[in-house]
Amino acid sequence: MSKKNKKEQWFVPAGIEPTEMDLKIMAWQEKGKKVPTRQLIKTPEQIEGIRRAGALNTAVLDHVAEHIRQGMTTGEIDRLVYDFTIKHGGIPAPLNYEGYPKSCCTSINDVVCHGIPSDEEELWDGDIINVDCTTILDGYYADASRMFCIGNVSEADKRLVDIAWECLKVGEEVCHPYCFVGDLGNAIAKHAHKNGCTVVRDLCGHGVGNQFHEDPDIVHYGKKGTGMLLVPGMVFTIEPMVNAGDWEVCEDAEDESGWIILTEDGSNSAQWEHTYLMTEDGLEILTH
Ligand code: MF3
Ligand code: CO
Ligand code: CO
Repeated sequence: MSKKNKKEQWFVPAGIEPTEMDLKIMAWQEKGKKVPTRQLIKTPEQIEGIRRAGALNTAVLDHVAEHIRQGMTTGEIDRLVYDFTIKHGGIPAPLNYEGYPKSCCTSINDVVCHGIPSDEEELWDGDIINVDCTTILDGYYADASRMFCIGNVSEADKRLVDIAWECLKVGEEVCHPYCFVGDLGNAIAKHAHKNGCTVVRDLCGHGVGNQFHEDPDIVHYGKKGTGMLLVPGMVFTIEPMVNAGDWEVCEDAEDESGWIILTEDGSNSAQWEHTYLMTEDGLEILTH
């Protein structure tokens, strides 16, 4: 075992009585399962901060929902997000994040995620768009996204948007304390496949709260019992990207930044995202 792994072992300092949670985590660790580090368990103070960031992030998305309409540009959506967030004391986390140029992601039709808002890009009748916002408030992060249907959307695209929503709900349902990431990934992919859709594998959900992207990776496919153990106090997103066609994605060749991700086969893609707190009783949504 490497030094790094040793340091990441869950342990209880000598002289301290292990809690029930310590014992459960150590039992799984001994069975060779991936367990969180203490750093991934949020303190009550951190949870309160993330909860407040979540409330503002929800207000940002509500503000978008109120104003989004056919004929608007994604650049205008970006300004709505920026202005509202700043006015309420927050910071849009995407802005300047690893070179990302805007305050939110706007992903239309076959754009899977990380669509960059632009004054040149208009919302057309029949478009489906994901608006993904992450807000920093007092140093804490919350991350969520929603789909919007513009004008007369085809039955097939409405169905895709609904199935992506159901995938999120199915993931939530199987997510209980001391489950594994693979349990929810498995349930999500099954639901997508049952409905003739696929789940993107190259991008995943993530721990969040003290930073934009933390451990663990929340993959939306896989085997039950694989991936990290999810325990009370952990905060993470679930955000399945569901494709109408094949699961493969690629970078947009016309986008020099390399951010924009498309479906490889040109089929449409839908996604919903929330930030969750794992509690002793199950998930709490921090972004609604
Ligand atoms: N909000 C996205 C997520 O759900 C990440 C976007 S990174 C950005 O993880 F830089 F494109 F904003
Ligand atoms: Co997001
Ligand atoms: Co996210």
